[in-house]
Amino acid sequence: MRKPAALVASTAVFAAAAIAAVMVRQRLREARRWARAGAVLRDLQERCAAPAERLRLVADAMAAEMRAGLASNDSEGESGSSVLLKMLVTYVDSLPSGGEKGLFYALDLGGTNFRVLRIQFGGKEQRIVNQESKGVSIPQHLMSNGSNELFDFIAAALAKFVASEGEGFHLPEGMQRQLGFTFSFPVKQNSVASGTLIKWTKGFAIDEMVGKDVVAELNKAIKRQGIDMEVTALVNDTVGTLAAGRYVDNDTVAAVILGTGTNAAYIEHMSSIPKWCGPPPESGDMVINVEWGNFRSSHLPLTEFDVALDAESLNPGEQIYEKLISGMYMGEIVRRVLLKMAQDASLFADNVPPKLEIPYILRTYHVLMMHQDTSPDLRTVGINLKEIFGIENTCCKTRKLVVDVCEVVATRGARLAAAGIHGILKKLGRDIASPEKQKTVIAVDGGVYKYYPFFAQCMESTLRDLLGEEVASSVVIKLAEDGSGTGAALLAASYSQRFQAVDD
Ligand code: BGC
Repeated sequence: MRKPAALVASTAVFAAAAIAAVMVRQRLREARRWARAGAVLRDLQERCAAPAERLRLVADAMAAEMRAGLASNDSEGESGSSVLLKMLVTYVDSLPSGGEKGLFYALDLGGTNFRVLRIQFGGKEQRIVNQESKGVSIPQHLMSNGSNELFDFIAAALAKFVASEGEGFHLPEGMQRQLGFTFSFPVKQNSVASGTLIKWTKGFAIDEMVGKDVVAELNKAIKRQGIDMEVTALVNDTVGTLAAGRYVDNDTVAAVILGTGTNAAYIEHMSSIPKWCGPPPESGDMVINVEWGNFRSSHLPLTEFDVALDAESLNPGEQIYEKLISGMYMGEIVRRVLLKMAQDASLFADNVPPKLEIPYILRTYHVLMMHQDTSPDLRTVGINLKEIFGIENTCCKTRKLVVDVCEVVATRGARLAAAGIHGILKKLGRDIASPEKQKTVIAVDGGVYKYYPFFAQCMESTLRDLLGEEVASSVVIKLAEDGSGTGAALLAASYSQRFQAVDD
């Protein structure tokens, strides 16, 4: 039976109107979702803002805390101390001269990987004649089990590495192998080759180790492996990097690590270390391990995401500056922001993608890959969202929003790192123009600096702005590739030569 034409027409009109209404509703919903997601982003941008005036206050506070830490012995003790910066005396009172000679080993432990190295130094003319290294990743469970388990695992890798020593490395007859041990956690040193662990950072949590001499623990494990080797220098990675920087450039006065964790070390005059009680070393200088990761100040731009991250971390209330800047945490901050966008604005779908709720699933190297995606359709961002969180078919607009979040978090981190360096330059009196135009070199190492060009460039341009062109032209930030390991071998060399000279 044929419908009257008027009925057909009105049904079609109703259907079209209904479809149009659905579409309008959908568009409205979409618009509301974008508005909400945009509001989260804008709020984040506002709260993370670190304009120059604020950074100057951060730098001033950093320099003031450095002075307080140099004056107070309390700062070297237990975590919970009222002094923020431990300003640890490293017993390194002179840095490599370039004349170091012989075969030296290093063991570099400070993150989820450790490395063993051997370097044949050839003295002033030949410098590094030969070197080999091997990286080993540390199984997660060893970061929180017993200390013997961790040190046995490390010593076993070291034993294997020593056994593979071949042509090109020469240990003089009858000499014991010497090791520089880079241990990148806060340690109260008693000498250049011993020190007790103050606290763990960066996800390590072997409670029984706290308060123990880390060199003694390593030596015992080395013995258990039957290796004939002695630890001649115990160094923080910043101190190793400073030594390595100095080996290639005599104007190096400070070092910064921007990696899984963050920290700085610099050369201080003994007269500026009121807490030092012993006789002053001949050089009149001492390398200080600042432990700046534990810095905090009311001037730091903190967000709800940082506060929650800190509260749920293994070390709440501690390492606040590190939690804003370093590789261990930037990915986690971005994840928390994206989770809020998923919850408040259904950014990825009506439901929150379950994997987006897993802490630390997003690493900082994912952030840098997404942030630096230059493809027109942000393909790398799409792939990462799919592989990490199982979020499929994201549109370009969503991907762009993710990039914006990465940018805000990285920019804040880089600008705060610049403020930290400015603080050190202030402490050294090198933040103002000197008539002699003295050059200041800062050696930097760590994955965030090395593999995140945006971060490195943002940090350097921020520092230039803070210092002004004239001073900035005499300050050089220099990558000390593999500085922490090389520096430990160098310090093992210079200290074993010094001790030999004393013994002879
Ligand atoms: C540690 C420092 C170390 C830095 C960089 C921080 O968590 O406390 O000792 O130098 O990470 O590895």
